[in-house]
Amino acid sequence: MSATAKQVALTPSNIRDMKTGDPIVTLTAYTTPMAQMMNDHVDVVLVGDSVGMVLHGLPDTLGVTMDMMCLHGAAVRRGLTRPMMVIDMPFGSYEESPAEAFRNAARLMRETGADAVKLEGGVTMADTIRFLTARSIPVMAHIGLTPQAINTLGGYKVQGRGEDRARVMADAKAVEEAGAFSVVLEKTPEGLSDEITKALSIPTIGIGASAGCDGQVLVVDDMLGLFTAFKPKFVKRFGTLGVDGEGAIKAYANEVRARSFPGPEHVFADEVPKK
Ligand code: KIV
Repeated sequence: MSATAKQVALTPSNIRDMKTGDPIVTLTAYTTPMAQMMNDHVDVVLVGDSVGMVLHGLPDTLGVTMDMMCLHGAAVRRGLTRPMMVIDMPFGSYEESPAEAFRNAARLMRETGADAVKLEGGVTMADTIRFLTARSIPVMAHIGLTPQAINTLGGYKVQGRGEDRARVMADAKAVEEAGAFSVVLEKTPEGLSDEITKALSIPTIGIGASAGCDGQVLVVDDMLGLFTAFKPKFVKRFGTLGVDGEGAIKAYANEVRARSFPGPEHVFADEVPKK
């Protein structure tokens, strides 16, 4: 799409309808310029709680707050035109009760202009998803590896192998039945991901799942090679911004130390008053 073409913003029901169409291209974003780069290429922009790890240096997503999500969500909204915007509900903002989830989801939508929220959990979160969707808050579910639960899952492990397969399938069916308009499948085995995709009437968005999912999502800093603390198997680096960025900082430091930057083209001529 050209930058001047009229851009109509996508909605949760458009995304739901893409179950039978082209794959749904999803990326995370946390800032206005990054969101602007996505306008012509991406269908769904997720303000993920991964922001805590990739921008704030937190060890996991558990320390992310509502205030952080509101700040980054509002920044992303200012940059977006066509993609639909989904925002993550941070750990501790929705698990206690459906009423608490509604209060926090409404704040996220009011303060950021997000079109939908995402929350982690399957069967255990079905009542909350039902409560939110019945009160006009579209919900993207997230099952399989749910990073906010690493302490009970015992780390970032593949979910749904062997005996665990039925549990993940039950989670998928529960979030669909509760009214989620789509569901992220994270780190679920390929065959199970395909089976869930076929069994559900709502789109599946895979991350470390299967090319057969209805869409894919990656953390933008991972795919740009900007976040290099670690690289999960499911990440493909489409860029080398981390290496390029460090190279640029080194070149700048060298030029400042050699007094070759700023050059004559970067400074301003004097206007000396005539005596
Ligand atoms: O927080 C996040 O970025 C996510 C995606 C990885 C799905 O939840």
